[in-house]
Amino acid sequence: MQISRRNAIVMGTLVGASSLPALAGAARAAAATATGTEADASPRLVERLADWRFHLGHANSIEKDFGFGRNQRTYAKAGVTAEASAPDFNDSGWAPVMVPHDWAVALPFAKPTTAPKKGDEDASAAHGFKAIGRDFPENSVGWYRTPIKITAADRDRLLWIEFDGVFRDCTVFVNGYVAGRNESGYAPFSVPIGDFLDYDGGPNVIAVRVDASLGEGWFYEGAGIYRHVDLVRADKVHVPQWGSVVRATPDAQGASADVVLELRNERKEPAEVVVRQQILGPDGKIAATLPEARVTVPAGETVESKAQTRISAPQLWSVETPHLYRLRSELIVEGRLADRYETSFGIRTIRFDGRRGFLLNERPVKLLGTCNHQDHAGVGTGIPDALHAWRIDQLQEMGSNAWRSAHNPPSTVLLDLCDAKGMMMIVEARRNSSDPAAMDELSRILRRDRNHPSIISWSLGNEEPQQGTARGARVTQVMQDLVRDLDPTRPTTFAFDNSWEIGVAKVVDVVGYNYRTDQIPDFKAKHPNVPVYGSETGSTVSTRGAYANDAAKHVVRAYDTEHPWWASTAEEWWTIAASREDIAGGFIWTGFDYRGEPTPYPEWPSISSYFGVLDTCGYPKDNFYYYRAWWRPDQPMVHLLPHWTWPGREGQPVEVWVHGNCAEVELLLNGRSLGCKEMPRNRHLAWNVPYAPGKLEARGYNGGKRAAIDVRETVGKPATIELTCDRRMPEATGRDVVMIRAEVLDAKGRPVPDAANLIRFTVEGDAKIIGVGNGDPTSLEADFASERHAFAGLAQAIVRIGRSAGAIRITAAADDLEGGLVQLRPRRLQLQR
Ligand code: GAL
Repeated sequence: MQISRRNAIVMGTLVGASSLPALAGAARAAAATATGTEADASPRLVERLADWRFHLGHANSIEKDFGFGRNQRTYAKAGVTAEASAPDFNDSGWAPVMVPHDWAVALPFAKPTTAPKKGDEDASAAHGFKAIGRDFPENSVGWYRTPIKITAADRDRLLWIEFDGVFRDCTVFVNGYVAGRNESGYAPFSVPIGDFLDYDGGPNVIAVRVDASLGEGWFYEGAGIYRHVDLVRADKVHVPQWGSVVRATPDAQGASADVVLELRNERKEPAEVVVRQQILGPDGKIAATLPEARVTVPAGETVESKAQTRISAPQLWSVETPHLYRLRSELIVEGRLADRYETSFGIRTIRFDGRRGFLLNERPVKLLGTCNHQDHAGVGTGIPDALHAWRIDQLQEMGSNAWRSAHNPPSTVLLDLCDAKGMMMIVEARRNSSDPAAMDELSRILRRDRNHPSIISWSLGNEEPQQGTARGARVTQVMQDLVRDLDPTRPTTFAFDNSWEIGVAKVVDVVGYNYRTDQIPDFKAKHPNVPVYGSETGSTVSTRGAYANDAAKHVVRAYDTEHPWWASTAEEWWTIAASREDIAGGFIWTGFDYRGEPTPYPEWPSISSYFGVLDTCGYPKDNFYYYRAWWRPDQPMVHLLPHWTWPGREGQPVEVWVHGNCAEVELLLNGRSLGCKEMPRNRHLAWNVPYAPGKLEARGYNGGKRAAIDVRETVGKPATIELTCDRRMPEATGRDVVMIRAEVLDAKGRPVPDAANLIRFTVEGDAKIIGVGNGDPTSLEADFASERHAFAGLAQAIVRIGRSAGAIRITAAADDLEGGLVQLRPRRLQLQR
């Protein structure tokens, strides 16, 4: 959108601006309408469009694609485009689905019918061997439809739909009209719909055709409307989407806040707008009230209203105290409230320093990061909000404080949650290019995301073939200029796998090392003032719960020893990064295993990567405890590996490791000490222990006192299923999910490390299983199911909670095992003010 600079008004001090609040899901949408007694008066209504009907179309058959592309239809006459786009099309046979939705995750696994050209990467393996893409036209197009309720009152409003992300080529139809198109699978976009609606009681239907024949990345990318969709109704005088910026900076006297608010007038005559604004503190109380501003907005134009204000005794945003403020902006036109718009922001400083690393609020904070794709067992890329939150929790449990969204911008809800939970974020552009489409995508991302305090840097590319060239530098410079224009407060970065001293490296502010952490000291010797961090570090490959390599079965042992040639162990990179203040930290490749890019076994039946410190279900592998030990040194712990059930291997040596952070660790087998060793900082301990069944015990000591203990016992046969969940009182909003963990135990209640029983989940009450998983990178079982074999003793079910607040019983059963049960008591959501 073009801002008329000619009409930009600088209001002096004490005037403000505004975006939507950092509230998840329904609360976020509802907040726009429920902000006090005047709530009903606000014409801005945000309705989350979560319920859709879905059907596969066809990339090669017009008939099976509901007539899309038929000659003399689609693009010949407006409003007559394809059968499935018509408002009266009968979609009763289509499947009801809830968005976020990824249809690829429910497709079968399949080998591609055409082999990749010699030297080419196998796109099918890279995308997790799902039957989608060029070879599977029957699975590569998806259609979505949802009715929307329109009344006569809407005629005077402006209506648009905001899509946070659709994978991939997407056409949005409103009552048969092509209302909008979007190509990138990762950029948000919006579609104005008002012209195409029926305001007289007729049906109004949004249809979306999504074509996922082409991928963008070399990892699983899912398919469909995998991020949220909101229908926005607003007065014709309003704050446009992402039309606010708040830059809050702490200083000796408190904090200053620079605010810019865009005012859009879609009326036919100029509008005299009174802008009233308040800043609400983390406690919800008013932290600053701004004097009224009066702005004239010419018809059809957008005007910026700029101002500064001060906040006294600000509560700074940090990893430990993620305090959030909200700017509430109200537009009054002709004495009536025309719009209320909220912008969540934080008050903090960030800085990368060549010698001191990364500083948050001028305090050095090591970036204890992970890189992640948006993908989880059971649901693929269609991650519900509560699962995003759960994933952050798992990483924070490990001590992680930063996330690199590889290799694309994240969803808005993930950023909201990072803001709220104190997880720092590097947002990465999908395409390192300066072509108009890529620049437009980048500008949408910058405009959408620049108020999030969690974001510490914009990454402009990853291992681009042009990274060391003058051309690459030129292109990146153009992108960086746009960043400087839209967000001069954050540094740019780039993830390099070579050319750290030339080309793009001369352009960006912070240099990222993908792997090769051992080369950073040399770089620092030559470039002491250039800030550096590990943009991808490690990365080990491992199968959770496996302790011997088995190439035939694609199994990789979980000791911190296995990695591809370009990578390193956890210990190798972290000992370097930990020892140097001038390395800002690093981002492990990866936090979670993800579908696709099956490494180190890039062939069938490996369907996911082995890189994660947690598996695709978010269950920790042993290296999780290495990081937890050294990333949370104030929490004494020891972790023993492997398990201690090795029938038939009596007397044979077993490699026993202890991860931990206690000063000394003693190992005992069946009560007999095998010696006490000093734990070297940032490393691990190892023993060679002849196997004897019984009890292996690691005791950690600090200052001679026992501070932590871990035990592995030789266990019996599988006997019961222990079912646990992350929360017993989820929200009865229809969108919350509960993470169910099934663990197979022996008769004495001890985990059975190799249990592989088929576990059948059932749900009674208003809830539904939306996906299952077990973390096995070679499992070809269905994710979209209610049963799953345990893998290394564990399985997972993701259960979506309905809207009625009645009790829910979830059970797990398996042949010959005593079943497990969890009971939930959903509660009605209390709207946060
Ligand atoms: C990097 C790349 C990542 C992933 C990783 C695997 O080169 O940036 O996306 O492919 O290697 O080790």
